[in-house]
Amino acid sequence: MDTAAYLRSHIRTVPDWPAPGVMFRDITPLLQDPKVFRVLIDTFVHRYMTPELRPSVIAGLDARGFIIGSVLAYELGVGFVPIRKKGKLPFTTVEETYELEYGSATVELHTDAVKPGDRVVLIDDLIATGGTMMAGRRLLEKLGATVTEGAAIVDLPELGGSSKLRESGLELFTLLDFA
Ligand code: PRP
Ligand code: ADE
Repeated sequence: MDTAAYLRSHIRTVPDWPAPGVMFRDITPLLQDPKVFRVLIDTFVHRYMTPELRPSVIAGLDARGFIIGSVLAYELGVGFVPIRKKGKLPFTTVEETYELEYGSATVELHTDAVKPGDRVVLIDDLIATGGTMMAGRRLLEKLGATVTEGAAIVDLPELGGSSKLRESGLELFTLLDFA
């Protein structure tokens, strides 16, 4: 079995959660099994340790982007910065509001989290409409950083987010999709 199929086989689909009609792709079984978790993280590590793709910072999107992003940053030997849902960060922030598959949200980033010239990989577990990743990218760019690549485990191509992100000029790396 190839890596994508192996990882996909450890994602659980929960119908009608958190709202009717949503097929929720739950990555917790992937994290729960240490062998699978290692394959997952090593796949990202191998990509981002290559000199041309190596970032100066990893930014993770609230909340599941924190789980993979922080481990990835640790392995690469670079810093990790969290992009959080509104109201959680204590210092001065920049903020962006965006639409989700099921509602809307505002995310924030500390104003000293990145600096001009930083090359950032922005990571989350999943891309649906792409709104979360787009908002995160805008926050990082407001502070003068460059998002060299967006990364996620899962793409839901039918929701159009990955196409929209790529059309906007973002490089995107995803491990598997659910079409
Ligand atoms: C999920 C997922 C991504 C986002 C993707 O998070 O973890 O962050 O939705 O959707 P999008 O591409 O349409 O923006 P959610 O907002 O459910 O928050 P959580 O991580 O706190 O559960
Ligand atoms: N975030 C937005 N849509 C999602 C889905 N279908 N599964 C998991 N997380 C999501």
